[in-house]
Amino acid sequence: MADKLTIIKYPHPTLRHSSKPVKKVDAWLKDAVAQMFELMYEANGIGLAANQVDLPYRLFVLNLSGDPENKEAEQVIINPVLSRPKGNATAEEGCLSFPGVYADVRRPETIHLKAFDLSGKMIDEDLDGLYSRAVQHETDHLDGKLFIDRLGETQLLELKDQLEEFNIEFKHNQESEAIPSPEEIEARLRELEAART
Ligand code: NI
Repeated sequence: MADKLTIIKYPHPTLRHSSKPVKKVDAWLKDAVAQMFELMYEANGIGLAANQVDLPYRLFVLNLSGDPENKEAEQVIINPVLSRPKGNATAEEGCLSFPGVYADVRRPETIHLKAFDLSGKMIDEDLDGLYSRAVQHETDHLDGKLFIDRLGETQLLELKDQLEEFNIEFKHNQESEAIPSPEEIEARLRELEAART
């Protein structure tokens, strides 16, 4: 069984970690994926990346329907590689590591996805609409990139106070040791990487 996972919030350092491809899907990882779906549903999300639960693995979960009962809509995307970006589309995004923060994000409209699912089956398809946007947002997480990195200066200025609150809360949690030291966080990520990447 995996550790008990929780969703980490901005500016936790693991959100800036560049995740390595998974080489081994074991029972531990399957349990972690099951926990990720639970956490995503509790937070009313449609996608959640491993970085967001403090894991250094190149994988994310999706349920674009947002409906926990709709098990057929559940997707586990492992080691995604995106290519052939086309067009431009702007739409509002949020992120479970930034509760309450929303902004219009411009991204390529369509994208090609190559990846594997939890059973090792290859995924090889062209994506558009919400599927395309969600896969791009979650793949960014695996590269240590956040949706706020894609905003313009004016948009960032509008979010400044909200982001500052996240910074203050994080600092407070570090001082009260509710969050481990950067060294401890790093050491744990290295250990998890050694086990499965
Ligand atoms: Ni996100």
